[in-house]
Amino acid sequence: MSRINVSLVLICFFSFIITSHSKSTYTEFDDDDEDATIKTMHQFSGYPPSNPDHYHSLSSLSLLVDSLSLQKQIDELATFSDSPLPAVTRVLYTDMDVAGRRYIKNLMGLAGLSVREDAIGNIFGRWDGYEPELAAVGTGSHTDAIPYSGKYDGVVGVLGAIEAINVLKKAGFKPKRSLEVIMFTSEEPTRFGISCLGSRLLAGSETLEKALMNTFDSQNVSFLDAAKSAGYTRDNDDLSSVLLKNGFYSGFVELHIEQGPILEAEGIPIGVVTAIAAPASIKVDFEGVGGHAGAALMPSRNDAGLAAAELALAVEKHVLDSGSIDTVGTVGILDLHPRAVNSIPSKAHLEIDTRDINETRRNEVVEKIHQSAIDIAKKRRVKLSGFEIVNQDPPALADSNIIKAMEASSSELNLNYKLMVSRAYHDSLFMARVSPMGMIFIPCYKGYSHKPEEYAAPEDLVNGVKVLALTLAKLSLS
Ligand code: GLV
Ligand code: MN
Ligand code: MN
Repeated sequence: MSRINVSLVLICFFSFIITSHSKSTYTEFDDDDEDATIKTMHQFSGYPPSNPDHYHSLSSLSLLVDSLSLQKQIDELATFSDSPLPAVTRVLYTDMDVAGRRYIKNLMGLAGLSVREDAIGNIFGRWDGYEPELAAVGTGSHTDAIPYSGKYDGVVGVLGAIEAINVLKKAGFKPKRSLEVIMFTSEEPTRFGISCLGSRLLAGSETLEKALMNTFDSQNVSFLDAAKSAGYTRDNDDLSSVLLKNGFYSGFVELHIEQGPILEAEGIPIGVVTAIAAPASIKVDFEGVGGHAGAALMPSRNDAGLAAAELALAVEKHVLDSGSIDTVGTVGILDLHPRAVNSIPSKAHLEIDTRDINETRRNEVVEKIHQSAIDIAKKRRVKLSGFEIVNQDPPALADSNIIKAMEASSSELNLNYKLMVSRAYHDSLFMARVSPMGMIFIPCYKGYSHKPEEYAAPEDLVNGVKVLALTLAKLSLS
């Protein structure tokens, strides 16, 4: 590729950002550049001429994403799975999770990052900036995978972040603020019922810190024992060390597949996330009276299973009654006891997930579900033995300066983008509590996610990594 001479415009970064929702307007772009994976980094942020140390001659640097190696890594990581490919199952602190962690740490090392882990296994790979005392810029996601899911959810934001660092290194970029890749522990709630466990604790949840001392999985293994078996929680079970010091990160950016159909349907390569929906999760238990499925007469039954079934339908009704497409609700777990075809269920356990962009509306749904559980228990003469709101998190807004940096990066790379909300939750929901936050979405096949058919095309992965790399570069210099 020919080298390009571009005279850098040395003005402050955030006054320099192109905010238009359009392709790049820069005229210096090299039209001879035929390779779609190679674009010149025209527009790293400029610095005031009064500080020559800040000047970077970036005019000839190129963003070269190694698409083949990134795909190979995605495929290799998918083999650490407790279900046969293409389904991926990688649950917190299992052998497969530990193997996946080793794989990630190795890649971080190969990228020249210094690796550290905290007491619950959040993994950090740091590239020191030339002003290392400044707050770092973070990027990352998760690699745990819910049962029978796909190989891209979260993984793209971890492997893609390591590749973004490789890209910047190959380009000769020197970060001012340090850049850190984070692999968060257990974004998925699969094992302990707690979503975004790693980022939630990092972001300073003392309630969670205490709760983890007494949290068990469905096999009655405690969180602390499970963590120990994976080599964590060494410091006498003190988890306070996990909580991030205020201002540790000056910005955090997560790359993720959209997990919805919009970008693909509209043919737009990049989603710039403006907000993340507010998730809540609830556990409900009914206790009735078990008995013989043939002999016990219908009028005298106290069937806990039917109470659960009725509550599941009530969840759907309350969600639909909100009248907004943004309100969603799912009963993802419904367990009956003793689970025999000829036995009336004496106990039923439901786990309910409900979300909305609008927190008040989401809270109203939670309240209605609670009222329905009380009413149904009364009507069916069963006991509502448990109603636990596991989490009821507010939505998060992306930071306007990070949005501008993502928009400018997309434009400079000639990539069309769309401002959009995330209906799925992400570790960024919690990082937003302690750092300005932003998210970059790439399209995925038919919006499929949390199932084996999940797929993102190599060119979309390349685009995402390039926008991430350029955004990190800008934030590092800001
Ligand atoms: C994340 O996995 C979510 O359920 O949104
Ligand atoms: Mn997920
Ligand atoms: Mn995810």
